[in-house]
Amino acid sequence: MIALRVADLTVTYGPVVAVSDLSFCVEPGETLVLLGPNGAGKTSAVEAIAGLLPKRRGTVEFLGADISRLSASTIARSGLALVPQWRELFPAFSVEETLMAATTAAAGRQPTPLPAVYELFPVLQERRRQTAGSLSGGEQQMLAIARALVTNPKLLLLDEPSAGLASGITRTLIATIARIRHSGVAIVLVEQNMEIARALGERCCMLSAGRLAWSGSMHEAIERNEAERVYFGEHRQSRPAEG
Ligand SMILES: Nc1ncnc2c1ncn2[C@@H]1O[C@H](COP(=O)(O)OP(=O)(O)OP(=O)(O)O)[C@@H](O)[C@H]1O
Ligand SMILES: [Mg+2]
Repeated sequence: MIALRVADLTVTYGPVVAVSDLSFCVEPGETLVLLGPNGAGKTSAVEAIAGLLPKRRGTVEFLGADISRLSASTIARSGLALVPQWRELFPAFSVEETLMAATTAAAGRQPTPLPAVYELFPVLQERRRQTAGSLSGGEQQMLAIARALVTNPKLLLLDEPSAGLASGITRTLIATIARIRHSGVAIVLVEQNMEIARALGERCCMLSAGRLAWSGSMHEAIERNEAERVYFGEHRQSRPAEG
């Protein structure tokens, strides 16, 4: 059974079309990378899939069930977890309180026990009594991912986990996400950092101005220099050059 099937997804903000007729699938245990320049519609797409934004058109199937019209909390309880681009932690909650609060999103299923989560993120165990707001950027990203894992997801949507982080964290992020993938969780990884994308992605979809510009294997994408074409070249549609 396919983990995620997105068909003709269209997301709009008033007159602005952020995502236009986007279709893709993710197999169980697979990591799909969603690439594309700033403003391409990556966040809008994953937030609409997770039920946080209304869909103008299109359907989303998760493990064979149509979740297109379900609320974000119902979708989260069914095992689809989003780690949002801006992390959205409660700064006054301790690390442990943040993780405990997330267990309610696993209601009806088995939450992942905290020791198993700490095993993946030893730094969070060390800091478990510290407030989320006092963690470093990299630690906050680890906490945001850990909070999603507590819900024992079958599919994890990660929206630019490397955004705003020093490049030194890249290897830790890659190793952590690789371990999550190894545990059998399907992953949709939004990334612009090609080192992370190529280390983890099996297939990739490239968005440009809200549309699917290219999709195929990560290997082929690199061979054919597709990312450069999407960012700078012929796939690019309406956005003027920046700077
Ligand atoms: N709340 C909003 N109101 C109006 N337009 C929006 C809103 N949020 C996003 N947009 C527009 O929708 C388009 C897609 O934005 P989105 O944030 O999904 O892109 P992105 O690919 O995630 O970009 P980034 O890489 O910078 O995170 C952009 O043109 C953006 O300006
Ligand atoms: Mg984004």
